[in-house]
Amino acid sequence: MAIDFYWRLPTHGCHSSLRTHDYDRGDWSPLRPGNIAPGPASDGGADQFAYIDHLSQIAKAAEGAGFLGGLIPSFPGTEDPWVISSLLARETSTFRFMLAFQPGFGNPVHSARAAASLQRLSGGRALFNIITGGGGPSQLWWGDSFSHDDRYGRTREWLDVFRGVWGGGSFDYDGRFYQVENAGLAPLLANEEFPEMWFSGSSDAALEVAARHADYYLSWLEPFDQLADKFDRVKERTARLGGEQKCAIRVDLVARPTEEEAWREVQIGFENVSEERRRTRTRGTDSVGAARQDALRPADATRYDDLIVAPNLWGGFNLLRGGPALGIVGSYEQCAERLDELIALGADGFILAGTPHLEEAWRVGEEVLPLLGQSGVALLQAAE
Ligand SMILES: Cc1cc2nc3c(=O)[nH]c(=O)nc-3n(C[C@H](O)[C@H](O)[C@H](O)COP(=O)(O)O)c2cc1C
Repeated sequence: MAIDFYWRLPTHGCHSSLRTHDYDRGDWSPLRPGNIAPGPASDGGADQFAYIDHLSQIAKAAEGAGFLGGLIPSFPGTEDPWVISSLLARETSTFRFMLAFQPGFGNPVHSARAAASLQRLSGGRALFNIITGGGGPSQLWWGDSFSHDDRYGRTREWLDVFRGVWGGGSFDYDGRFYQVENAGLAPLLANEEFPEMWFSGSSDAALEVAARHADYYLSWLEPFDQLADKFDRVKERTARLGGEQKCAIRVDLVARPTEEEAWREVQIGFENVSEERRRTRTRGTDSVGAARQDALRPADATRYDDLIVAPNLWGGFNLLRGGPALGIVGSYEQCAERLDELIALGADGFILAGTPHLEEAWRVGEEVLPLLGQSGVALLQAAE
């Protein structure tokens, strides 16, 4: 069975290494000597190498290194994934764009038309990471005051309508959140391939909607037994509806020639984190997935190795950069073995990431992916 490998595009800025905590790539931190995209110009301002130029380099590197495409995260402080995809589509040839999108932030018929346009104009390279919001302050920042489970109700209806209008024809829908009459994409757009839906969310409400609409159920990395249990639960629900569920994992790697070098990188990063930051917990979110990640990182950890959760699994990544806590640290061979184990427990796809995203796309593509399957499990589907 072919396994899909994607890379992540850091739409929130990037670090030149895990040792630094200010973003020195992109303009999310003050401009200093050594920053890039933009960097300092001789007149004291910023040079002309913009962050979109850097994202383009990452997309091209990932494309060249054998990844199918990239996840484009969406947060209040990032640029918009639809816009980024449209620009990068002209700079790449096979790279697929996985747009993180919160249904409900766009009318489903209008979104279907925009997605079909992106399919048509990019040669069928669009797909989605459906996210249903972490709640809390940032949900209100978007003007969204729906409760956690109502948001999933809306996501389900949104996906019903998005799918219903896709093939053209005349589609009617009378739901709680959406009513549509006689809708359907115009013939030119209706023939486009329906985009794959990668679906995130760890709550019961999320698993219920995933079972109906997800091509891939997507989770952050968790301890392997916990993850296997979650995959089994969503597979069971999909099977009850007569379908078969594929699963996927979003995970950061620190992959180095030796295990010692990989842990050394993490140790230096951890030792550069302030004590105050080490004690900080995720706040203001109703996300079950985020709570599961937080539980992996005790606030009283004083050494990097207090956060080793299992061989090659480290629970402190969200101290070094934003995002989930758990990731993989090890030699190239060990990283490939852990990925093989995840394939064996039911992963059909991965979104991998590493810092800095540009250089690590090449490293992981050249050094880790070719080792997959050598511990006895399945295979990479390379970009053609
Ligand atoms: C792989 C993955 C990627 C995510 N990407 C984003 C994102 O780009 N933007 C965002 O606001 N939330 C993102 N989230 C957070 C989810 O929106 C949020 O955790 C989830 O939908 C909350 O639902 P839950 O309570 O069911 O876990 C992501 C979650 C996962 C698992």
